[in-house]
Amino acid sequence: MFDLPDHEILPLSKQHVFWTWSAQAKVNPIAIKKAKGVYFWDVDDKKYLDFNSMTMCVNIGHGNEKVIKAMQEQAGELPYAAPGMTTKVRALASKAVAQITPQGALSKVLFTLGGADANENAIKIARGYTKRHKILTRYRSYHGASAGAMAATGDPRRVAWEPNLMTGVIHFLDPYRYRSTFHRTTPDISEEEFSRDYLNHLEEIILYEGPESIAAVLLETVTGTNGIIIPPNGYMQGVRALCDKYGILMICDEVMSGFGRTGKMFAIEHWNVVPDMITMAKGLTSAYAPLGAVAMKPEIAAAFDEHAFESGLTYTSHPISLAAAIANIEVMKEEKIVEHAFQMGSVLRRMLTDLGEAHPSIGEVRNIGLFGIIELVKDRKTKEPLAPWNSSSPEMSALKKYCTDHGLFVYTHWHTVLIIPPLIITEEELKEGMDILDNALEITDQAIK
Ligand SMILES: Cc1ncc(COP(=O)(O)O)c(C=O)c1O
Repeated sequence: MFDLPDHEILPLSKQHVFWTWSAQAKVNPIAIKKAKGVYFWDVDDKKYLDFNSMTMCVNIGHGNEKVIKAMQEQAGELPYAAPGMTTKVRALASKAVAQITPQGALSKVLFTLGGADANENAIKIARGYTKRHKILTRYRSYHGASAGAMAATGDPRRVAWEPNLMTGVIHFLDPYRYRSTFHRTTPDISEEEFSRDYLNHLEEIILYEGPESIAAVLLETVTGTNGIIIPPNGYMQGVRALCDKYGILMICDEVMSGFGRTGKMFAIEHWNVVPDMITMAKGLTSAYAPLGAVAMKPEIAAAFDEHAFESGLTYTSHPISLAAAIANIEVMKEEKIVEHAFQMGSVLRRMLTDLGEAHPSIGEVRNIGLFGIIELVKDRKTKEPLAPWNSSSPEMSALKKYCTDHGLFVYTHWHTVLIIPPLIITEEELKEGMDILDNALEITDQAIK
């Protein structure tokens, strides 16, 4: 459709694009031209197995014809409508999202453009509803790059922008068993006691901060880039109970963990907890179009029945994005993609366990559904990470390079390797990627010898 020879894509991009999360002079992007299923191809026709669903978002896989057709038809019929109007897709998409929330309980939906503004709006709604200011979030978290979502973020991406961020966020510790601050001398403590210790920590912070000043606890149901931290038994139920006790709203950020990633539509279903709000994006359209959402209980929405919700977005409920979302949810149901992800979770667990046994540089592996991680260490006893906090190391860079050279697109974060493939991946495709990782891990094994 547009005229540019393949070999000119990269130089022209380098000339004009301002890149995110990058030192401008150091970027080296893959120039990509097509994608299908769990694979994509660069302009030199090199094929890559996508072990990160691009940005942990192409949940139903690349090139799904049904979603593409829905978007094309919507573009032809009505590409845009003003926020104060409504459309067929706005009615249907909000119903489709409401219906898949836990017990169908979050029946009011606000559409945004992505995850950060979903969290920004959830925070505003929580503040408006409770008439309280403070928001509690965890240190090992990422909630987005706009000023409020960045303030909510606990990890070092926030620190880079302080102090010019939204006020009122208090951070607390994550129930991260492998490196638990509270349990260095009691690593064998039961899961329930472990949860209790972290809930006591949260309650202490709630009391110190003053419950009457806290609007919401906002947390990634399963922590994503900060370590695939899977809540231990009793933890989510305990957070729910604390929120109920103190009149605080519970907001689950399911931007990454939602839409089948963990083997349930929303990760919070694993613990039978109904939060007050869920924020979502990524898998909502499987990234075929930009879209985020805040799903909330109707009583929260009702707080704005008589006075306006003073916020908005030109592109809220963009019809092309909503057409993608409706078709994406239909594909997930018709092709039983969430069930498949659940089953593949056991396959991934087995493969990860085998890798963990074979490679001394692996300290721990974890997964829930197709949300997996390998933690690399210098020494299994001391658990010293193979790259320092908020940094990389020559070994981690070499591992990543080996994977890229061998056609495996994988996300490495500090001392970890994340395994987040499209949910349609088969056992054979998963094995193909794990075999490349198996070879790549020889590099890190050698490094710690
Ligand atoms: C858990 C979580 N929340 C929020 C966001 C922000 O989403 P977006 O990049 O669409 O603004 C992300 C993005 O990676 C995320 O993983």
